[in-house]
Amino acid sequence: MSDRYATCLAALRAQPLHWLVTGAAGFIGSHLVETLLRYDQFVCGLDNFSTGRRENLEALARSLSPEHIARFRFIEGDILDPACCLEAAKGAQLILHEAALGSVSRSVKDPVLSNRVNVEGFLQLLLAARACGVRRVVYASSSSVYGDTSHFPMVEHILGSLQSPYATTKRFNELYAQVFCRLYGMDLVGLRYFNVFGPRQNPEGEYAAVIPRWIHSRLGGQQCTIFGDGTTSRDFCYVDNVVQANLLAATTPANITGEVFNIALGGETSLIDLYSMIDSASSTNPADPRFTNFRPGDIHRSRADISKASKTLGYHPAVLVADGIRRTVEYFKTSGSKR
Ligand SMILES: NC(=O)c1ccc[n+]([C@@H]2O[C@H](COP(=O)([O-])OP(=O)(O)OC[C@H]3O[C@@H](n4cnc5c(N)ncnc54)[C@H](O)[C@@H]3O)[C@@H](O)[C@H]2O)c1
Repeated sequence: MSDRYATCLAALRAQPLHWLVTGAAGFIGSHLVETLLRYDQFVCGLDNFSTGRRENLEALARSLSPEHIARFRFIEGDILDPACCLEAAKGAQLILHEAALGSVSRSVKDPVLSNRVNVEGFLQLLLAARACGVRRVVYASSSSVYGDTSHFPMVEHILGSLQSPYATTKRFNELYAQVFCRLYGMDLVGLRYFNVFGPRQNPEGEYAAVIPRWIHSRLGGQQCTIFGDGTTSRDFCYVDNVVQANLLAATTPANITGEVFNIALGGETSLIDLYSMIDSASSTNPADPRFTNFRPGDIHRSRADISKASKTLGYHPAVLVADGIRRTVEYFKTSGSKR
């Protein structure tokens, strides 16, 4: 653990704060809630279970002490509902905003719904944060905002053309955040996550991310499909690194108002290499994947320059891809019906 992160966690434990985590029943949100509670924070979680799962909250109850769970309040509700956002933000000093509809393909199919949740919901949340005098909101942006950039590694100030409605919603979040900082003097910070993975990520359904989908398939002895020729690459980032980034961004005394930061490993793994890692960790009977066409809206290469987050926030990803894959496979092997 980096010195800055260790100091951050010690300070939180010494002086617990009140947090709102939106999307608390989702993959990343549930990890944020878990770590915050483990470090004695007071947490309100908001989620409408549209893609999040009650099992994720039940898993928290199993892994934490009753004293920690007593510091957790959960509101089942929608970020599109202003009253609900106000109720959730009341008393919060810091907000970690994760609630959104993920998946590029979902947004290609239904751009109106993605826009409603990801843009209108974001605005409702910001208005509630402003009304409640929240100190800082750290919100989830995405590497998809880089679109078709040919600049590698991807650096915060050089963007290409957006390739999907999902990417557009995330870029709108960043633009609205800048405007709200200027207009209302709010303190809003965006984290551009690059392909996050880890335990509790949903492996099922049409919009599942590649890592949980492949692990689930290989554990079940099924063949996996690679979209494209396998050379497509991503900067895969284990979820603990994303938790670290959120806590550092929320608590740093540095003036980072209106800023965005890449949150990734700063590496690049091709889909074919990723497949080999997953196949060998999940199965005793190695099997070749099948290849099919690229999906519309997908970008071909992705790799982050994380030097801004490292220098400004003290962010140092502690879990690398291979280790993260091993931990995630272990989770899926042992979680069985508890998922
Ligand atoms: N997982 C990744 O690789 C990745 C990459 C880039 C950005 N992100 C962003 O990170 C955030 C968290 O992603 P995740 O992977 O944990 O996804 P997730 O789907 O597991 O979590 C999102 C949560 O938001 C909730 N939600 C959706 N609409 C809501 C609404 N209207 N009101 C209240 N709650 C609502 C869902 O029920 C879900 O629990 C999202 O903003 C996503 O766009 C994720």
